Amino acid sequence: MTLLSDQAYRRIDRELAKFPAEQRISATMAALAIAQEEKGWLSTETIEDVAKYLGVPPIAVQEVATFYNMFDTKPVGTFKISVCTNLPCALRDGEKAGEYLKKKLGIGYGETTADGRFSLVEGECMGACGDAPVLIVNNRRMCVQMSDERLEALLGELNTTAGDAS
Ligand code: FES
Repeated sequence: MTLLSDQAYRRIDRELAKFPAEQRISATMAALAIAQEEKGWLSTETIEDVAKYLGVPPIAVQEVATFYNMFDTKPVGTFKISVCTNLPCALRDGEKAGEYLKKKLGIGYGETTADGRFSLVEGECMGACGDAPVLIVNNRRMCVQMSDERLEALLGELNTTAGDAS
């Protein structure tokens, strides 16, 4: 039994084509990203399915999935907001932005709102330290200079968006 759609496997095939045939493991990150995009998060079954498709040991895929914080091995909300809390951001209102979001959403880091809409996590440096506070929505949409006003506008926008608007 396969867990992903045909379209997802075709996308993985395109990633595999970028590497030599004996290096299928090199497509692991791309394949996991595709799987997560489709399933919302990476269950053990999904990770095993990706490993089987790539023809690599499941533990190798599991290690990648659990090492990088852009991969979610537990269910997350429709919108996962990762706030950079590394030092340069922390020194420039990064913590304040995190506190603002915690208060507004009524959740802490690592938690999801009861309606399943928002998850809040601490993120690592996103390479935009000069534009702190920085956050990223669903691993794809980078938001910079997140003052209280901009955070409010972002939440307002996401609250009126049906699905993944990242
Ligand atoms: S420390 Fe936050 S983006 Fe670099």
